[in-house]
Amino acid sequence: MHKALLVAAVASLTLVAWTQSPAALDGTWQRFQPPARPGSLIAETFVFETQGSHFTGTAVSPYDRRDIVEGTLAGAKLSFRTRNPFSPDALLQVYQGTLDHGILTLVRTGLVAAPGYPYALPPGAGHPAPPVQLRRISADTSFHLPPSLTHPPLPPLRSLPPNGLAMTPPMGWNSWNKFAGKVSDADVRRTADLLVSTGMRDAGYVYVNIDDTWEGQRDSQGNIQPNAKFPDMKALADYVHARGLKLGIYSSPGPRTCAGYEGSYNHETQDARTYAAWGIDYLKYDWCSAGLVYTAQEMPQAYEKMALALRATGRPIVYSLCQYGELNVDAWGAEVGGNLWRTTGDISDHYDSMARNGFGQNGRQAAAGPGHWNDPDMLEIGNGGMNADEYRTHMSLWALLAAPLLAGNDLAAMTPETRAILTNRDVIAVDQDPLGRQGYRLQQQGQQEIWVRPLHDSAVAVGLFNRATVPASMTITWKELGKGNEPVVRDLWLHRPLQAPGSFTATVPAHGVILLRVR
Ligand code: GLA
Repeated sequence: MHKALLVAAVASLTLVAWTQSPAALDGTWQRFQPPARPGSLIAETFVFETQGSHFTGTAVSPYDRRDIVEGTLAGAKLSFRTRNPFSPDALLQVYQGTLDHGILTLVRTGLVAAPGYPYALPPGAGHPAPPVQLRRISADTSFHLPPSLTHPPLPPLRSLPPNGLAMTPPMGWNSWNKFAGKVSDADVRRTADLLVSTGMRDAGYVYVNIDDTWEGQRDSQGNIQPNAKFPDMKALADYVHARGLKLGIYSSPGPRTCAGYEGSYNHETQDARTYAAWGIDYLKYDWCSAGLVYTAQEMPQAYEKMALALRATGRPIVYSLCQYGELNVDAWGAEVGGNLWRTTGDISDHYDSMARNGFGQNGRQAAAGPGHWNDPDMLEIGNGGMNADEYRTHMSLWALLAAPLLAGNDLAAMTPETRAILTNRDVIAVDQDPLGRQGYRLQQQGQQEIWVRPLHDSAVAVGLFNRATVPASMTITWKELGKGNEPVVRDLWLHRPLQAPGSFTATVPAHGVILLRVR
């Protein structure tokens, strides 16, 4: 055959393959076997819709529902990414696949950062997951929830009066940052004892909050049971209460929690009653898989539904919304009954993560006040990923932000230094100031920032933060604070008064802080 003809023939064959494959991909695909472990991030159902050699669609796991983006098809080979529709600037999962005789083999090759993603990729992000095989179960290209995942209409949104709780930002301990999925009844009891013996309780840390992975199955009446790690929740609550502490628990408005455990979806009233019967004092309610059943616009209503269920029990239960700052929560968090709401993605035990969550809060102060607080996530102090200057920055910044102080370390392994940071009463007094006004950035010069928080006694808390990796000289002039020329000044980390007429200049360590109270 003439060479040009051969090229043309190959090209047209390729074109045939290209034009035939899209139809073969269109539709709903399901894995042969569900994942061994609930909460697996690998989706089980994929809906593809092709346009020529490109496609879009939806990937559904027990955990969430993601948009398929950048789908390209070349012969039997396809590649695409999946993206959380609520956090388009987060991590994307990368898939590659092959279509062969009606079987689609997919490999999730790793994660990539979307433009704007601020962190280094988490460890193991590039690690491929084992291949999964899928069959096309229908040619339908529209995404439908299974009948069990449709919800009855949500009550229309109304504005709830305050529940009278959390008049200052909640303080306590939460299991997630250190214990994650391993937390057990024994850990919670030990922590309760240690909150007392270390002086943390007396410094204000009273909530002992069990995060995700306590959940078991529902019984035949639909009542949620704890799993084997928590043999008797009522007894645990009694144990915690006997030490002058309060017990918190965790669930999701969706069918699954973020770790893949049973959520409260369609069981809100029943779960609220169960919590009240156990003696629960605090609920963290985490969006997780709720995106499977609710649209983003329904988020406030889904949260209000649980607020109403909690209130109907008659037990005072602090209500913590966990939706990673999505959907302008400042505007509706308090009205749906939230005492606090997350304004950020998950913190990790690194300076960059902590700094992004904390310094990123500037401008949110209007939403915070007694009974309703912005929550830039829990504390990492003492978990080992930051040095003492960085942890002092973490504590100071959270105090200036009127943020909840939920320690997340292993109290059994707490060093004297960590304990001193967490129990610094001068700093805690800033956090717990009864005026309840959230601080804000007063000045920024390069990597140096001065933050202030007005306090009830007409004093002001001032943080001199150096975000650089080398020490920096910083100056604050009292006039800028409207506190005259010779205010009474106290250094809240050195625990001593400062004599500094006119202004104060000091060297602030790398990633460090100087925190003052000025009156
Ligand atoms: C989400 C939350 C975390 C933690 C985990 C538990 O990621 O933001 O704070 O509760 O779920 O699975």
